[in-house]
Order: sequence, then structure tokens, then C-alpha cells
Amino acid sequence: MVIGVFDSGIGGLSVVNAIKSELPDIEVIFRNDSKNLPYGSKTPEQLLTLSAPILKDMVEEGCKTIVIACNTLSTNIIEDLRKIIDVPLIAMEPMIKPAAELTKSKIIAVCATPATLGSKRYEWLKNNYAKNIRVIEPDCSNWSLMIENNEIDHDEIRNLTNLVCEEGADVIVLGCTHYHWIEDEIVSVAGDRARVIQPEKPVIEQLKRVLEQLA
Ligand code: DGL
Repeated sequence: MVIGVFDSGIGGLSVVNAIKSELPDIEVIFRNDSKNLPYGSKTPEQLLTLSAPILKDMVEEGCKTIVIACNTLSTNIIEDLRKIIDVPLIAMEPMIKPAAELTKSKIIAVCATPATLGSKRYEWLKNNYAKNIRVIEPDCSNWSLMIENNEIDHDEIRNLTNLVCEEGADVIVLGCTHYHWIEDEIVSVAGDRARVIQPEKPVIEQLKRVLEQLA
């Protein structure tokens, strides 16, 4: 079975690695759109225009399902994509519900792109699962580019992590797959002050369910 993974850039590669370590026999086609990165500063219309042709090509290449390893696309245009792409699309989005269940301080931090934070889906997630919770949304707007270009500003990551912990967040949600590459750094700065969560594991479980249905 051939599956696809798509992201604007190297965020998707961390998801490919996680899928391959859990499902070593699966063939994964990874595609990105790094020349148009960052997706996090684009409108839903632009995102659709850029991503749809690439996803259609992936279906042509034989992908039986595609993981949209991009919170920005998933929160903004997943339903539009599902209408035009003929294989099951597996979305990745900020883990607001699990974070709301985990927090004891009733304060969480969500690190994500501006387009994710501005999406209707993200607003819906907060309204449905985090009504009585304070959600801190620190400015990570330059992070996907910084990580894609391997120009990581370790001071910025440390300062931002310390800031949200000092404000009382005890759960930090990584709502952009690019940030998976700096997860260990955020975990080590947060220490025992905050849990850091991201959706690779539940997405792989969802992928397994889809593969069972396709078999
Ligand atoms: N990795 C993507 C995400 O999960 C988007 C990064 C970007 O291109 O801005 O949102």
C-alpha cells in the first residue's frame, strides 16, 4: 500500500519519520511545496490554489490515502480539499481537546502559524473544548521559516517557552509540524512545568484505521 504525506516543507518529514518507525513496511511518498513556504501567512484561497494540484498528482502517483501533515492546511481548507481529492485525507490539527483535558492550571499555550490561529476550525476547537481555559497564543510567526532554513534561534525558543510557563501554562500544544523538529528543546526548557503535546501518535492511529478500511 502506498500512502502520501504532504506539507509545505520539512514539518512533513518529521511525520514521515514517525509513520515509518511505527509502520516500517509501508511505502510513503512525501511531497512538499517549499518554494511557497510559509503556508502560515497565506489565505485559504491561496492555500487551495497551491496545494490542490500537488495532492492531485500524489493521487495519480498511486497514493491511496494522504496525511495532510500541515495544521495550516488542515484547519483552513480540509473540507474543500476533501471535495476535490478522491482518496481519504487525514488531517493534523492543534490538540486543543487533549490539552484542555490535561491542564490543571486551566492555562494552555498553543504554538501555531498565524493562518492556523486565525482559522474558523481553530476557533471552533477552542469554543467547544477550551471554553473555560485561558489559551495563550505566543507569536511563532517566523518559526516555520526559521526551521525550514535551519536558522534556529535557540534564545527565542527558550524565551518563549519560559514566558508561557511563567504565565502558568502547564500544557504546550505544538500546532505546526515544523515545530516537531524543536520539540526536544521545548521539552527540555519547559522541564516539569509543562507537558508538550503534538498529534503524531493519534494521526498514526487514524492512518492505521484508514489502512484497515482500504485493505
Ligand atoms: N508545517 C505547517 C503546519 O503544520 C505549516 C508551516 C508553514 O508553511 O508556515 O502548519
